[in-house]
Order: sequence, then structure tokens, then C-alpha cells
Amino acid sequence: MATFRKLTRKVCMALNLCRCRRRFLLICSPCFVLLPVYIYVSVVLTYAMTHGTSVARPMLPLRFIATGLRFTEDLAPHPEEHFWKTELDNGALWNFLQHIKDRRYNPILKQKLDSAEGLGDGERSTGKESGGSCNPDYEISNAIPDYEMLTTQMKDFVVSMHCRDYPLILEPLDVCDDGPLAKTRAPLLFLAIKTQSANFENREAIRKTWGRSGNVMGRENEGGLVRRIFLLGMSKDLLVEDKLTFESKMHGDIIQWDFADTFFNLTLKDVLFWDWFSRRCPHARFIFKGDDDVFIRTPAILDYLLAEEKNVTNVTNFTNVTSSVSMQTKMDDFIVGDVINNAAPLRSNQTKYFVPESFYKGMYPSYPGGGGVVYSGSLALKLSQVSKRVHLFPIDDVYVGMCLQRIGVSPIHHPAFLTFDFPLDEPKDPCANHTVLLVHKRSPKDVFRLWSETLTPSPECRNATLRVERGDA
Ligand SMILES: *[C@@H]1O[C@H](CO)[C@@H](O)[C@H](O)[C@H]1NC(C)=O
Ligand SMILES: *[C@@H]1O[C@H](CO)[C@@H](O)[C@H](O)[C@H]1NC(C)=O
Ligand SMILES: *[C@@H]1O[C@H](CO)[C@@H](O)[C@H](O)[C@H]1NC(C)=O
Ligand SMILES: *[C@@H]1O[C@H](CO)[C@@H](O)[C@H](O)[C@H]1NC(C)=O
Ligand SMILES: *[C@@H]1O[C@H](CO)[C@@H](O)[C@H](O)[C@H]1NC(C)=O
Repeated sequence: MATFRKLTRKVCMALNLCRCRRRFLLICSPCFVLLPVYIYVSVVLTYAMTHGTSVARPMLPLRFIATGLRFTEDLAPHPEEHFWKTELDNGALWNFLQHIKDRRYNPILKQKLDSAEGLGDGERSTGKESGGSCNPDYEISNAIPDYEMLTTQMKDFVVSMHCRDYPLILEPLDVCDDGPLAKTRAPLLFLAIKTQSANFENREAIRKTWGRSGNVMGRENEGGLVRRIFLLGMSKDLLVEDKLTFESKMHGDIIQWDFADTFFNLTLKDVLFWDWFSRRCPHARFIFKGDDDVFIRTPAILDYLLAEEKNVTNVTNFTNVTSSVSMQTKMDDFIVGDVINNAAPLRSNQTKYFVPESFYKGMYPSYPGGGGVVYSGSLALKLSQVSKRVHLFPIDDVYVGMCLQRIGVSPIHHPAFLTFDFPLDEPKDPCANHTVLLVHKRSPKDVFRLWSETLTPSPECRNATLRVERGDA
């Protein structure tokens, strides 16, 4: 009996144990089932993390590549080649030199180039542009196969295109305040006018009319402070240069640098002016840069610019994003003029704009015509910086376009900038002169007449508004 009881107890204990085990099994069996799944998932995840892509899919190429799409079933369409060119452009001198610079400042490639192996072929061999002397570099003619056939101005440009360090000869001292009040007393509009030593009459007309320095009223607005400067190189005529020195003492509005004042050297006036402006008048809100044979309706330009600024402020208030910041950025990149799109280099050596294929290949970027353009002071500071990364180009307004392209700014076209005068086929409008912001080209005599017309418009033209794009154009 006792043994039986012992036996049953043992059996019972075993049964209990079994029951326990069954209960345990009942509770934990999902765990056992899920364990392999868990292990599988963690293995796959670890693999995917260390290998960057999941096991089943084809691996993406190491470097992101562009142009031409490839479609596969597993991947979104992706480009097949680099979206920047890796081979150096050998066909044209400017493109070749610029390609090296663009690559050096390509933010993605930059790190690669900085690490020793890099894509740096050719970088070191042509590193002579900055610093060095400004002596003509005749060796560069070897880089242009048809050098001997080029026009004289093209030859002159090519052998001196590495240099932009020309000393100042004449400089006004107090165009802009540089004391503690520099910012509050900064000009609203800074006029920078390209002229040549001998053009005394043009400068005199400008001083007395649209280029008056001081507070200038808008037509509908309070206007603001206007300052004026003339940009010059050197002429060969010593007598003329003497007169210019005297003129500079009289008016204090001449900046002159020591380079030959030729058509293909006009770009120097841009880069040297930007540099001067960054140091001497960086707070000016807007800059007008243009020729000395244009007429501009300064009061209308002031109205336009103030309205444009206000517009941006209103838009920002409305959308209510951190207003001061985005207003800043909007006016930061402001540039307006007669924008020329899809222009190609002129290949006939009969024009002064002639640029041979051995020097430049491709289209020109969009650019505002150099007769007259208005941009914000902050854009000028950016242009000053980026111009150090863009090789000089013989045509100054195209060069501005090249710089804009590299800061990612599109110039705004305004139909009231008539850098090619009124269209000939346009019906005559008696108030036409009151609908423009700028018109080229005008003699000093015209400028005087147009200015008095601007100040005292005839009654029927008092309401004239700015030109808009013609529908049929
Ligand atoms: C202009 O081009 C023509 C034909 O291409 C050539 O014969 C002539 O020598 C060139 N003139 C100059 C000044 O380069
Ligand atoms: C530009 O100016 C420099 C310095 O005076 C001169 O050597 C060069 O020939 C000029 N370039 C052109 C294209 O006239
Ligand atoms: C704009 O933002 C300010 C502060 O963030 C707020 O007080 C104001 O009501 C907002 N205005 C509008 C029109 O949303
Ligand atoms: C506009 O100004 C020019 C002077 O530049 C003048 O010749 C022309 O007659 C003016 N047009 C009108 C309609 O007054
Ligand atoms: C100019 O505008 C004013 C007010 O807007 C108007 O009274 C006047 O008739 C207009 N003049 C002309 C010539 O259109």
C-alpha cells in the first residue's frame, strides 16, 4: 500500500510537472515559433545595415550618376552617367581653364580633389592666374592653335587674361560714409557708370541730370540718397589724362585703374568695381551699372525699387515666415535689366563682339544687357566673391551672366530697360519717353532734353505708366 501511495505521489508529481510543462509549453510555444523569424529578421537587418541595401536587390553603384535613365524592376529610374563632365574640355581655351576652376569648386568633387589622389590632372600645370605678375603671358598662345589668325583685341585679351590686379590711380574719398553711421546713411542707389577719359561731355550731362548726387525724390515716393561714380581705365592721351585728374579733383566721382581702357577690358571694370564696392560702400541698397550714353529716369527707378522692396516685405508678412530673413534673401539676389536669353557667340571677325571657337565653345548664359542693369548691393558682394572663381571673359555683360549662373541667380527681365532703343516697328506713343526706366543710346543733348521732360512732364503724360511686354512680340 505504502509503496503504491509513494508511486502514485511520484506519478502525480510527474503529472504535475507535466501539467506545468504543458502550461509552459502552451504559453511559450509562440516564442519558439517566432524565434527563427526573429533570428532571420535580425540577420537580414544587420546585413542590410552593413551592406547598405537589402539582400534581394541589386546594389546601387557606389557613386551617384546622371544623364540617361535606366529602368529596372527593382529600382526607381536612375541616371547612368555623371552629371558633371569628367574629361577636360580641350576644344576651347576659356572652357578648358574654367572647367578646371568649376571642378575645383564643385562641392561634391571638392573633397575628392582635396584628398591627394583626386581628379587633379591639369590643375597644377595651369595654376598661374592668381598672385603672379601681370606681365603678358605669351606662352598661352600655344594653347590656341589659330592664335596668329586672331584679331588684335583677342590676342591682347588672351595674353593678359590671367591678370586682374591693376592699381587704382584716381579714387574718390568720401562717396560713402564709412564711419559708425555707414549703414544708416548708405545710399539707396549707387550709380556706377562706365566711361572713357575723353567723354567729358557725357559725364557733365549725367552729373547735371539723371546722375545727380544727393537726395532724389521719386515720382510717387520719398526717394532716397543717390551717389555717383565713373569707372575708367587709361587712355593713351596724356593731355586728356591731365584734364581727367583735374576733373576728379573738381567732382570727386572718378575711379580710375591702370589698365588700357579697351572694349575687351570692360570686364575688369566689373571685377575691380565689385572689389572696390565691397570695401568702400558695402551697405548701398542698389547699384545701377551702365554706359555713359544712356538715359535713365532716376526718379522712376527709385519708385520701382522701393515698390519692389515693399512687395517682398508684404509677401513675407502675408505668408508669415520669419520675415526679415526671407526678405533679406529675396532682395539679396535681385538683378533686373534687359535680359538676353539663348545668345550665342558671334563668329564673324567683322564685329567687335567676335569671339572665336578656339576661345569659347557653347551658348552664353542668360545675362542682362550691359547698357544698364540694376542689382542689389548684397548681390554685388556675392558677385565679388564668385568672380574670383570665373576666368575673365572679353564681353562684360556675358561675364556677369557667367557669374550669376554660378551663384544660381536668374536675372529679371523688365521691358522698360531699352538697351536697344525703342523697337522701330512700334507705333509712336507721344508719352513713350515717360514709360521707360532706361533707354540707349542718347547723346548728351538728348539727355538734357529728356531730363527736363522727366521733371516736368506734359499734362497728358503725367499718368504714363512703365512699359509692359508687347503682346505680339
Ligand atoms: C577674318 O576672317 C577672315 C575669314 O575667316 C580671314 O580671312 C581674315 O584674315 C580675318 N581677319 C582678321 C583681322 O583676323
Ligand atoms: C587690358 O589692359 C592691359 C593693361 O593695360 C593690357 O596689357 C591689355 O592689352 C588690355 N587688354 C585688351 C584686350 O585691350
Ligand atoms: C505671424 O507670426 C506672429 C508671431 O509668430 C504672430 O503673432 C502673428 O499672429 C502671425 N500673423 C499671421 C497673419 O499669421
Ligand atoms: C523722346 O525723346 C527724344 C530725345 O531723346 C526726342 O527726340 C523725342 O521726340 C521724344 N519723344 C516724344 C514723343 O516726345
Ligand atoms: C490722370 O490721373 C488722374 C487721377 O488718377 C485723373 O483724374 C486724370 O484724368 C488722369 N489724366 C489723364 C490725362 O489721363
